[in-house]
Amino acid sequence: MVKNIGILTSGGDCPGLNAAIRGIGRAAQGNFKMNVIGFRDGFRGLVQDRTLELDPGLLSGILTLGGTILGTSRDKPHRMPIGNREMDMSSAIVETYKRHNLDCLVCIGGGGTQKNALRLKKSGLNIVTLPKTIDNDIANTDITIGFDTALGIATEAIDRLHSTATSHHRIIVVEVMGHRAGWLALGAGLAGGADVILIPEIPYSIEKVAKAIRNRTHAGKRFSIVTVAEGSMSTADSKKIVALLKEKEKAGKKSEKSRISKNLDEFHQSHINHTLHLTSQLEAMTGLESRLTILGHLQRGGTPSAADRILATHLGTACAALIDKGEYGAMLAVQDSRIVPVPLEETAGMKKLVSRGHPWMESARHVGTVFGD
Ligand code: F6P
Repeated sequence: MVKNIGILTSGGDCPGLNAAIRGIGRAAQGNFKMNVIGFRDGFRGLVQDRTLELDPGLLSGILTLGGTILGTSRDKPHRMPIGNREMDMSSAIVETYKRHNLDCLVCIGGGGTQKNALRLKKSGLNIVTLPKTIDNDIANTDITIGFDTALGIATEAIDRLHSTATSHHRIIVVEVMGHRAGWLALGAGLAGGADVILIPEIPYSIEKVAKAIRNRTHAGKRFSIVTVAEGSMSTADSKKIVALLKEKEKAGKKSEKSRISKNLDEFHQSHINHTLHLTSQLEAMTGLESRLTILGHLQRGGTPSAADRILATHLGTACAALIDKGEYGAMLAVQDSRIVPVPLEETAGMKKLVSRGHPWMESARHVGTVFGD
C-alpha cells in the first residue's frame, strides 16, 4: 500500500527547514514510493486545508534556501485565534488528516511544536516530528536544525564588532536570540572570544560585570565585548520571577492565577529592553563609552550552513525511513551522533538548558570569560 504523508513547518523559521523538507520528500517519493503533500503556514494551514503539492520539481533547488517554502506560523491547534476568539481547532485538523487519507503527519518545529504534536498524537493521529530551532533548547536531542547557522552568524557578528570596539575603546554589548536558553550566546561568545557572556541560566550581578571590565581597563585592555542572551536576567530580576512562579503554583483561585500571569507578562514585557538598560549601566559604572547591537532575526535568515544542510537531510531521510517502518509518535533526535526516535512524551514540554558544569562553560571560564556570577 502506498503511504500518504503530510509535512508542515511550525514556529519561528530557521535555515535548514527547506533542506529537511527536501530530505523527507526525496526519500519518501524516491525510495519508499510515498505520496507527499505540504501544508502551508503551520497548523493553521492544516485547519484550513491549504496545501502545496511537493512534487519533485518543487523539491529541487531548495537545499540551500533559507526560510521554509511551506510558510510557518506560531498557531497552536488547541488555541487558535479565529476572529477575536481563541478556539480549539483539533477536530478540524483530524478531519483534514482523514480527508487526505494521511498515514502520517510530519511536524518540523521547536519546543511548542513538540507539545502540539503530542496533543495530536493523543487525538489518535500518526505523527513524527523533527527538531528545529536556533535556540537548541529541545530536550533529548544533542542539536536542532538551524542552531549551527545561527551560531555562525552570531560569531561572525562578534568578530566584526571586535575591531570597532577596539578602535574606539568601547564596550559593545551584543544581544543574541535564544529565548529562555543560553546556547546561542554561550556558543557564539565562546567562538568569538567575548569577554563577558550573560545567559538566562546564570543570573548576573551588574557590579561583577562592571568590575571585570574595569579590571580589563587596568590591564591595558580598553574595550570589551559583552554577549548577552535575550533571556538573561540580573540576580534581582531572577528572584522576582522565581517568587512570582512560586506564587502562581500555590494560587488556588483561577482569578488569583490569572492576576499572577498578568504580572509575569508585564515583567517579561518590561524586560524586552533590558540590554539597552544594561549597556547604559555599564557605561556609567566603567566610564567607557558603550554601544548596543541587537542581532535579532538576522540570526534566523539566509542560507543554512553545511552542518545544518547535512543534519536536516539526515533527519529528513531518517524520517521517511521511520514512516516506512510504520513507527510513529516520536521525534527524531540526534544522540551521540546517531539518529534515534524519542517518544514525544519524553521531549514535549521539556527544555534543554545550559548546565553550570557543561564543557563549554568550563572552557569559557578557563579562558577568563566572566559570567557575572
Ligand atoms: O525560537 C526562535 C526564536 O528566534 C527565539 O530565539 C526568539 O525569542 C523568538 O524566536 C522570536 O520570535 P518571533 O520571530 O516570533 O519574534
